[in-house]
Amino acid sequence: MKWLLLPLAIIAVYSIYYGSYYLVCPDGEGEGILAELNIPHPAVIAHRGASIVAPESTRPAYEIARDLGSDYLEADLQRTADGHIIVFHDQTLRRTSNVEELYPERVDADIGEFTLQELRQLDFGSWFNEQFPRYAQEHYRGLEILTLEELIAVARAGHHRPGLILETKHPYKYPGIEEDIVTVLQQEGWLEDDHPHAGTIFFSFSVGSLRTFQQLVPKVPRLLLITDSMISRRSWEAWLATAEAVAHGLGPKGFMAWPWHIAAAHDRGLFVFPYTINYLWQIQVLARFQAAGFITDRPEIVLGFLNRINGMQQPSPGDELSAIPLEPGRLHGQSGNGQ
Ligand code: G3P
Ligand code: CA
Repeated sequence: MKWLLLPLAIIAVYSIYYGSYYLVCPDGEGEGILAELNIPHPAVIAHRGASIVAPESTRPAYEIARDLGSDYLEADLQRTADGHIIVFHDQTLRRTSNVEELYPERVDADIGEFTLQELRQLDFGSWFNEQFPRYAQEHYRGLEILTLEELIAVARAGHHRPGLILETKHPYKYPGIEEDIVTVLQQEGWLEDDHPHAGTIFFSFSVGSLRTFQQLVPKVPRLLLITDSMISRRSWEAWLATAEAVAHGLGPKGFMAWPWHIAAAHDRGLFVFPYTINYLWQIQVLARFQAAGFITDRPEIVLGFLNRINGMQQPSPGDELSAIPLEPGRLHGQSGNGQ
C-alpha cells in the first residue's frame, strides 16, 4: 500500500492547488485593464536591465534586455549634486563601484552628494566581474554611470523599442525630482514619441511622489510599489484604496500576489506587476494567479515562458535555468540598500 502514498499525495496537492484556484475564481481582467492603458499583457519588465548577466543599471544590462525583447526597462532615478538625473539604485556607491579607490573618504556619502563629473570617473562594472566571474566580460570594466538621457538613447537605439518604467528612488532626498524627470523626458521628446505601447510608466514606494506625477502628467500610467514593511503596517485592502487614488496598478513583492489579492485589485480597476520574479516556477504560478506583468532580473526566462524571446534559446520545460545558468544565492542578493 505504501506505493499509493506518493500518487495520492500528488493528487491531493494538485486538487488543493486547482481547487483553491477555481474557488478564488481568477477573472482575467488584468489584460483589459492594461489594454485601456496601452500596456502589453503580460508585460515583461527588465529590472535594472538584464541584471543577472550584466552589471545592474548599466548600458550593457539595458541593451541586452532591449534586444531580448523586454517590454520595459526598469530604472531607479536619483539626482546628482549638480542636478542631473542618473540611473542608480543604492543610496551609496559602495556596492557597485570603485568609490573606495577614488574617493576613499566618501564611501558612505549619498550618491546625491556627487556631481556627474565625479561619478563619471567611477567604474560601475568591475565589481560585477569580480563578484560574478561566470558572467564576467572584459567590456564591463570601466562602465560609466548612465543618465536618464542616455537610458532613453539606449531604449531608442535597438531594433526592438522598449518603454521605460521609472522609479523615483529615495524621493524625499530630492525635492522636485519628479519635475526634473518630466523635464528631461519632455526635452528628449520621449513623452511625445510614437511608442508601440505606453512609452513610460512611473512607479514608486512613495505615494507623494506618485501624486506629484499625477499632477504633472496625468496621462502617464503609475504604479504603487509595496514592500514587506508597508504590508505589515496596513492591509492589502488599505493599500488598494491608496493606490486607487494615485495610481493605475500595484507592484507588490511576489509573495503578496495571492490570487485573491490580485482579484481584489482588479475589482478596483488596478493591475498587478509583482517583483522580483526570477524563477520559471514563480512565473508559472503568478501567471495562473493573473499577474498582469513580471518585474524580473531575468527577462529571458519570462520571455521564454511567453514564447516571445528574440534570438535566444528558450528554456526547456522544467529547466528554468537553461537559458542563463544562475549562481547559487544570486537571486535575492543584489537588492542593495534601502528602497
Ligand atoms: O521592481 C520593483 C523594484 O524596483 C523595487 O525594488 O529596491 O529593486 O528598486 P528595488
Ligand atoms: Ca527599482
